[in-house]
Amino acid sequence: MTNLLSLRVAIVGAGPAGIYAGNILANSVSAEGGAVEIDLFDSLPAPYGLIRYGVAPDHPRIKGIVNSLHEMLSAGTIRFIGNVEVGRDIAIDDLQERYDAVILATGAIRDAELRIPGIDLHGSYGAADFVAWFDGHPDVPREWPLDAAEVAVIGNGNVALDVARVLAKHAVDLRSTEVPDNVLAGLEASTVTDVHVFGRRGPLDVKFTPIELRELGEVPDVDIVLADEDFAELELAAGSSNQLKVILRTFQAWRARGTTGASRRLHLHFWHAPVAVLGDGRVEALRFERTAPDAEGVVRGTGEVRDIPVQALYRAVGYYGTPVVDAPFDTVRGVIPNVEGRVIGDDDETVAGLYATGWIKRGPVGLIGHTKSDAMETVAHLVADANAGALRTPSERGDVLELLDQREVEYTTWDGWLALDAHERALGAAHTHTRERVKVVPREEQVAISRADSLALS
Ligand SMILES: Cc1cc2nc3c(=O)[nH]c(=O)nc-3n(C[C@H](O)[C@H](O)[C@H](O)COP(=O)(O)OP(=O)(O)OC[C@H]3O[C@@H](n4cnc5c(N)ncnc54)[C@H](O)[C@@H]3O)c2cc1C
Ligand SMILES: NC(=O)c1ccc[n+]([C@@H]2O[C@H](COP(=O)([O-])OP(=O)(O)OC[C@H]3O[C@@H](n4cnc5c(N)ncnc54)[C@H](OP(=O)(O)O)[C@@H]3O)[C@@H](O)[C@H]2O)c1
Repeated sequence: MTNLLSLRVAIVGAGPAGIYAGNILANSVSAEGGAVEIDLFDSLPAPYGLIRYGVAPDHPRIKGIVNSLHEMLSAGTIRFIGNVEVGRDIAIDDLQERYDAVILATGAIRDAELRIPGIDLHGSYGAADFVAWFDGHPDVPREWPLDAAEVAVIGNGNVALDVARVLAKHAVDLRSTEVPDNVLAGLEASTVTDVHVFGRRGPLDVKFTPIELRELGEVPDVDIVLADEDFAELELAAGSSNQLKVILRTFQAWRARGTTGASRRLHLHFWHAPVAVLGDGRVEALRFERTAPDAEGVVRGTGEVRDIPVQALYRAVGYYGTPVVDAPFDTVRGVIPNVEGRVIGDDDETVAGLYATGWIKRGPVGLIGHTKSDAMETVAHLVADANAGALRTPSERGDVLELLDQREVEYTTWDGWLALDAHERALGAAHTHTRERVKVVPREEQVAISRADSLALS
């Protein structure tokens, strides 16, 4: 039977879900008078997952959350081991041999598919790839073609807003952010004049949050354009949320304001279901079917088809979870099958000692704060299982770093991250337009800066 006093846990994924899980686990075990060693692995050299590689660079208020995650990782109970891909550099079996429990918190980094004809034409992109580019993810190309005047963004979620805002914004207004220099140069060269965002349902069906929506109206030299026809007979249902009321008020204020002759426009279209991407080799137009609510309020196609000329397209129709080699995975939902965080194997039984949390547990929706409640639920089950003696007994007690050294894996550490963090902040301070940080993009450069101290000591 596993002794709670000597619990050893591996967490795969150092995004917010993994970090919250580690912190909550450490607190829960110590509240029970036990002790726990936690190793937190990430395939990237740096921690924070989508906070570093998803959250838009012009959203610095999210930094507050990073500060509290930083404190959790500084406390000494959680050991960060970066630049290690579980499933490639180390197998999940290797972890299960060494730890009483493994928590998978691998989140999502890829786009969900949009299966319409022409989606693979040149000039058709996934929002997640574009986000990874402008946030300086090490594994995406450094160059991004921004040579279209009219661009479409499909989807009415916050990612669509981030993408549309970054596309429409003048590069000069991103200069004070942490965007890498190659991104700033790419955005400076952009020839965009019109960004069209398309929702397949109505203005009251959007998944935008009010604060993100309102922000669009404050982008300098960008007009918001709304079509009167999209707002015909639109009424808030009784009992609508305050959030929806604010969203509707925001749309109405923009309609009343009209356009100001700005050099770029951001059009918000509703009731447009994408049908096909048209073009000879590259994107030339998007074909939509107009939609409308039926008598029961269900949105359906009206049969009316419209072609709208655009030269580039970004699908922002959701993310898709990141599987782990040899761990169960539901390819339809893009999640690790689980019941309240306990992973379910192919035989429909719980896999002893294997847990999931965050976006990989419940799908790619929700804010950073939601990953905390996820972690509470998952960790509560892990602790209950440990108390019930239901975890696996590890067969190997050696330090995992020895295995990584044997395999010559260039792992990074918490001290390494502190060095990289300081380096990026120094780059920001030295910049002509003072910035909080300038991100280092290439993986090998991040690893070299992170490992410089340990190499100097060896
Ligand atoms: C574009 C975008 C912008 C967003 N902006 C905001 C915002 O402004 N505010 C807000 O509250 N929420 C925002 N969110 C939502 C927020 O990012 C998520 O709620 C949160 O990041 C999910 O956390 P997670 O830890 O589950 O996953 P992630 O953040 O995706 O972290 C998963 C981690 O697992 C690692 N990993 C994956 N596979 C492996 C493996 N095999 N081995 C080792 N490591 C692995 C990844 O490298 C990653 O670091 C945004 C989301 C997106 C997509
Ligand atoms: N600043 C922030 O706080 C911030 C920023 C970015 C992301 N996030 C969060 O991260 C999560 C993920 O965001 P997200 O935007 O990727 O997902 P999302 O909120 O689920 O939005 C996805 C959008 O894509 C649409 N869509 C899906 N399939 C489609 C199809 N086949 N054709 C046309 N449209 C389609 C959906 O429409 P339907 O509604 O009709 O399905 C919806 O409008 C969300 O919880 C979001 O709030 C937060």
